[in-house]
Amino acid sequence: MLVRKIWMQKRGNQKETEFAFLCGLLHDLGKVVLFKSYPGKYGPIFAAKKAESEMNICGYEQESFGVDHAVVGEMLSKQWGFPKELAGVIRKHHDPSEAGNPMVAAVMLADHLAKELEIGYDGDHGLNSPVDITEILSKSSISESEWEQLKEFASQECVNIKRFFQIS
Ligand SMILES: [Fe+2]
Repeated sequence: MLVRKIWMQKRGNQKETEFAFLCGLLHDLGKVVLFKSYPGKYGPIFAAKKAESEMNICGYEQESFGVDHAVVGEMLSKQWGFPKELAGVIRKHHDPSEAGNPMVAAVMLADHLAKELEIGYDGDHGLNSPVDITEILSKSSISESEWEQLKEFASQECVNIKRFFQIS
């Protein structure tokens, strides 16, 4: 939802906006593969409370499996015949040097926003993320005020969703 919102705000193209939604939905696909393949080894990575000084989830994955979820997600995407662009976004979504790709930047921003607002938990609280949000914003051509609007939108959506599901 957040990637779709970011894309729609900047581009407005319906087809690309739906593709952005798909990228947001599938960007962490590799985590599902790792969890299904190694539940006893991958589960504790999620359960461990991480300090700011610790490595991020990609670091844990590299250390434990020799590969991170971005690479695993790309591999599965190719095996399943996903479009190359989608496989590329999945592969690059933790690589700040790829933020010049607008779709990769949108996924990075949405991921960062979800962490900042504590929407769900993906095994990484984001404190140790290599992503420099100012750099990503500048590459994505999203201004600080637009970023603040997106945060407000996401925050309000959280309230609405919790209210709908009667979660407090
Ligand atoms: Fe990820």
